[in-house]
Amino acid sequence: MIEKINLLLAEINAFRATSAEQLEEFRIKMLSKKGIIASLFQEFKDIDPSQRKALGEKLNQLKTLANEKVSKLKQEIEDALASSHDPGGMPDLTMPADFSEPGARHPISITRNRINGIFEKIGFVISEGPEIEDDWHNFSALNFPEEHPARDMQDTFFIEKNPDIALRTHTSSVQVRVMEQQKPPIRTISPGRVYRHEAISARAHCIFHQVEGLYIDKDVSFADMKQTLLYFAREMFGEQTKIRLRPSFFPFTEPSAEMDVSCNICGGPGCPICKYSGWIEVLGCGMVDPNVLENCGIDSKIYTGYAFGMGIERIAMNIFQIKDIRMFFENDIRFLKQFTAAI
Ligand code: PHE
Repeated sequence: MIEKINLLLAEINAFRATSAEQLEEFRIKMLSKKGIIASLFQEFKDIDPSQRKALGEKLNQLKTLANEKVSKLKQEIEDALASSHDPGGMPDLTMPADFSEPGARHPISITRNRINGIFEKIGFVISEGPEIEDDWHNFSALNFPEEHPARDMQDTFFIEKNPDIALRTHTSSVQVRVMEQQKPPIRTISPGRVYRHEAISARAHCIFHQVEGLYIDKDVSFADMKQTLLYFAREMFGEQTKIRLRPSFFPFTEPSAEMDVSCNICGGPGCPICKYSGWIEVLGCGMVDPNVLENCGIDSKIYTGYAFGMGIERIAMNIFQIKDIRMFFENDIRFLKQFTAAI
């Protein structure tokens, strides 16, 4: 019996398998219930007690070796199979292509691009500026008096330990930079993100986006502004749209106004969207205060201009009928994927 075992040990050591089938055949032959090793254990029962110890050890050694060999070969075959799927640099051109879902623009980007496009068509150019601003560009140059509430920590995010630096509260700051650097005629719009210290709710957020416009030249009048804004309202909300201007106040414009457009949902008689007023407020505007022109090095005796500013979120909420401003900032894929069709 000892010879038989030695022969088998040699056979197991020498065994090689290139396929899973070959290995399984080997396993059945050696290790199954009716296999060679099982039958040796059967024979072992009738062995002379004097030989038992040595032979038992040998037999166990055989069984262990067979088990180890089978698991080692099994691993080798699996590894070889896995690496054979590696294309090795040469793509398989017959494979079906991956289907990739088209992305969607964010509704704020869609709305901003539309607003930009409407003004670009009539010669306005886009200007951009920093979101972290100094007091001069955000407030002082724009004629904000020292005690104006917007300069309060309650309304503006200041950079800690430096009351001169804040997150811009409007993109009018960009227009100050443009006026400082360019000579009239100036025709520019400034889209961008702005920050205000507001409690977050369905209607308000501490971050939002604006597009502000500025037009400066000789003999620019309030009527020019009104006509430009009417053009914008019709392009944005539809040809039937009417506008109305209500007197208002901003430190940097005089006179100032707030513009409403006729409700694009009900067209006038009143509905829940316009809170039964028939009108929707969309922007602030006015003639640039001469102090502002002078602050920026523009001669207010020669030049006049108008400015306007609107919140993109409010317009996007109207166009897409979105009830909660927070949706724009949550990046919920179920919300965002609804805009794949819009451009
Ligand atoms: N800057 C104003 C705001 O943030 C909007 C505005 C711009 C009003 C220009 C009048 C003229 O609310």
